[in-house]
Amino acid sequence: MDIEIKSMDRIVGEVDMPGDKSISHRAVMIGSILNGKIQAENFLTGEDCMRTIDAFKKMQVKINVTGKTLKINGAGLKGLKKPAEELYLGNSGTTMRLISGILAGQDFETTLTGDESLLRRPMDRIIEPLTLMGADIAGINNNSSAPLKIKGKKLKSIKYKTKTASAQVKSCILLAGLYADGYTIVEEPFQSRDHTERMLGYFGADVKIDGRITSIKSRGALEGKKIQIPGDISSAVFFIVLTLLLEGSKLSLKSIGINPTRRKIIDLLIKMGADIKIENEKKLFEPICDLKINASNLRGIKIKEEEVSEIIDEIPILCVAAAQAEGLTEIRGVGELKVKETDRVFSILSNLKKLGVDISSKNNNIAIEGRRKRFSTKSGTVLESYRDHRTAMAMCMAAAASEASCKIRDIDCINTSFPGFFDIFNYLRR
Ligand code: S3P
Repeated sequence: MDIEIKSMDRIVGEVDMPGDKSISHRAVMIGSILNGKIQAENFLTGEDCMRTIDAFKKMQVKINVTGKTLKINGAGLKGLKKPAEELYLGNSGTTMRLISGILAGQDFETTLTGDESLLRRPMDRIIEPLTLMGADIAGINNNSSAPLKIKGKKLKSIKYKTKTASAQVKSCILLAGLYADGYTIVEEPFQSRDHTERMLGYFGADVKIDGRITSIKSRGALEGKKIQIPGDISSAVFFIVLTLLLEGSKLSLKSIGINPTRRKIIDLLIKMGADIKIENEKKLFEPICDLKINASNLRGIKIKEEEVSEIIDEIPILCVAAAQAEGLTEIRGVGELKVKETDRVFSILSNLKKLGVDISSKNNNIAIEGRRKRFSTKSGTVLESYRDHRTAMAMCMAAAASEASCKIRDIDCINTSFPGFFDIFNYLRR
């Protein structure tokens, strides 16, 4: 489906954000292999997380979702049953990479597959460490992509240095580490989000986090608890940026996740001159806070390669903000963006150029010469989502901050992470 987004004057209001996608996936996966029950509130019912549920249901785990409440009767570490068919994981890279770590420790063979985009994404990054741990795992294209066949084995612990900072790869290895004797240790070039290790530690595994180095050892059964899933900061940021760009706008957001490995986007926007107030910070197992945002005059900044893994999902919308900030913004070391749901360097450049933005990319760096004014568009300009949810939402915000209306193509993909996106968008319009 395509949509026409009209230029907006301002947005004002208070809204709830959907549950964090990364934490929702982990609640299902870890909830399925613990002993006892897990209950998670504010679960994200987006398509990606529902794929994860579907996969574990096919392995006979009892999972129930009512509204935004997730309840699981955990099957235990080795209690999953061989699925009757291959597991289709849709668009979800997180599901495929994390579930592989769990399947590597089971006593049966599984086949994992997905949509066109997922079948293009690199899987050698998990095949290599899981093979070193003793799993029998194979992909196609010289063992670099899915469909994957995984035959669980008795695993051995490893000490592994990842080539890129990726929470999905780290989490895959840590989950497999639950099935190995001794400490499994992952060292990353830069620290990525730490939700897996936090949740595993909270549910009883022996986890040590020391910046870029994480180690894990099973202490036997994981125990179930009640958890509250924070609002997704990566979803909130679309509305935060729109508030900043539209003069006279004000937005209030409650219970947003402010995990130290995810809050960088807020810190960078503040550095750009954003009026964002962080209030009522609560140190739960996943910290939360309320955010108050007012329209602001932004200026360009330089973002270093070591900061990119902490804002990896926010870069499309950050580029929209940078395009309406005064002066140059540089983002260095964005190579990983090219292997997301779509090549996001290409998708951002091609769309923002249509809006008259001075944006270029060379050697995995992005440069944007921003101007503090609305994008100059002719009515009917067509922007492409490339069937990528974050490109689609970033372009909806760019269209709202343009001079004339734009058409955004293929917006159904937004349901992968943000069902209800357009309800909030229309509600906030003033
Ligand atoms: C995620 C990790 C990130 C992110 C993705 C979710 C996760 O991927 O882009 O949306 O839940 O672990 P990488 O860690 O592979 O960069």
